[in-house]
Amino acid sequence: MAKQLFIKTFGCQMNEHDTEKIAGVLSNLGYSLTDSPDGADMIILNTCSVREKAEYKCYSDLGRLLELKKKNPDLVIGVGGCVAQQEGERIVQKAPYVDMVFGTDNISEIPKLLEKKKGQRKGAVSTERRKKGLVPQGGTDFISVPFPSMVRNHPVKAYVNIVDGCDKFCTYCVVPHTRGRERSRQPEDICHEIQGLASAGYKEVTLLGQNVDSYGKDTGGHTDLADLLHRINDIPGIMSIRFVTSHPADFGDRLINAMKRLPKVCEHLHLPLQSGSDTILERMKRNYTYPEYRDKIRRLREAIPDVAVTTDIITGFPGESAEDFDKTLEAIEEIQYDGIFAFKYSRRPYTSARLYGGQVPREVSEERLSQVLEIQDCITQEKNQACIGREFDILIEGESKKDKRNLTGRTRGNKIVHIPMEEGISIGAILRVRITSATLASLKGEVVRQGRGL
Ligand code: SAH
Ligand code: SF4
Ligand code: F3S
Repeated sequence: MAKQLFIKTFGCQMNEHDTEKIAGVLSNLGYSLTDSPDGADMIILNTCSVREKAEYKCYSDLGRLLELKKKNPDLVIGVGGCVAQQEGERIVQKAPYVDMVFGTDNISEIPKLLEKKKGQRKGAVSTERRKKGLVPQGGTDFISVPFPSMVRNHPVKAYVNIVDGCDKFCTYCVVPHTRGRERSRQPEDICHEIQGLASAGYKEVTLLGQNVDSYGKDTGGHTDLADLLHRINDIPGIMSIRFVTSHPADFGDRLINAMKRLPKVCEHLHLPLQSGSDTILERMKRNYTYPEYRDKIRRLREAIPDVAVTTDIITGFPGESAEDFDKTLEAIEEIQYDGIFAFKYSRRPYTSARLYGGQVPREVSEERLSQVLEIQDCITQEKNQACIGREFDILIEGESKKDKRNLTGRTRGNKIVHIPMEEGISIGAILRVRITSATLASLKGEVVRQGRGL
């Protein structure tokens, strides 16, 4: 019988995609995924370090895994992802029952680490970084090429790495330290992978990078994100293309034009603002002002009136005064986002803001966070209500998790839509749906007709 593998994934889409690679590497060793840790032969935590709470979860989960290991001494425990990259050896020192620790560039070394562990008491650790610069064509880096048996999580939509790492060093952010310097994949490798996905029946790809606008800068600038989108748009079978995350300093007219011109590129932009105050943006080292940001959104909306815009906000960054925070609220009111991910500032290792004066008390950051969420809830509610009666093309992604009598899909603006299950509708179908009701979290609709294709 196949050995059972349980992977718990924290953090961003990059990590979710890494989990698919980890499962792929381990499937070659005879492991198959299970959705419960009980009875598993191997348990892997794919960790996130972006905020303190996420890192803390890694250690609290490890505490619980010790109990499972006591019951089953043969259980293999692995830790990967951003906490693994950041902490390395310290993980096996703190939790000596961990068998292996692998960094964000070391997924392909898992078989070697397991072999090494067999010969020693101590857990095997690898967090060695790949070098900056272009990933050689077909190269064995973080890319999917060496993971032919990647176990993808979804039958019709797929993540595809285009650039890994980040060179921005925003002063609050640990990601450049856990993911390393920017490295772009060769456009040929990306297109080859997407052609393969199309042949296997995938309909949608989401291009991943901490900063997708940087794509190609390290390849000599021959192919940037706009060029890449043109090439992917030409791949038959792929019906919809998304990308995350853009950076406001780099996002510009070339990408706006590509989004406007290319029929398969979805009308959605996630553009993290972080703060509406120029003083705070400067202290964050974001390299844009709020008026510059607002101007880019204006140009985007002029080009694509129906575009959905979402963002990330941090409250309580060191030195954030009541006036600074008011500017964030004003920006949220002014831009009218379709959705916001908001976080209270968390002090992270290796970052420069860690040492800044004016750390804001937790209660104040929390209060500000709830104000952001409250204002945004009203805006989201209004925007969702405004969808009632309108028609959208929806890619059907699967059964609704909450109610098996419903199917779930997304609008091109990334809003979740539930429709009643009907005979003849298959996962991966594109349907024209009329919205009949809306809540804060999702829309409900009825099928008007089979879609024309996006
Ligand atoms: N590269 C992406 C994703 C970075 S992490 C980007 O630039 O947007 C995702 C979000 O986490 C960030 O946009 C930011 O809002 C938040 N974040 C990062 N570091 C944080 C910290 N130290 N405290 C609170 N939120 C943080
Ligand atoms: Fe972090 Fe800034 Fe890089 Fe985003 S752009 S990953 S927030 S350093
Ligand atoms: Fe977390 Fe690492 Fe992603 S820190 S947000 S899992 S890049």
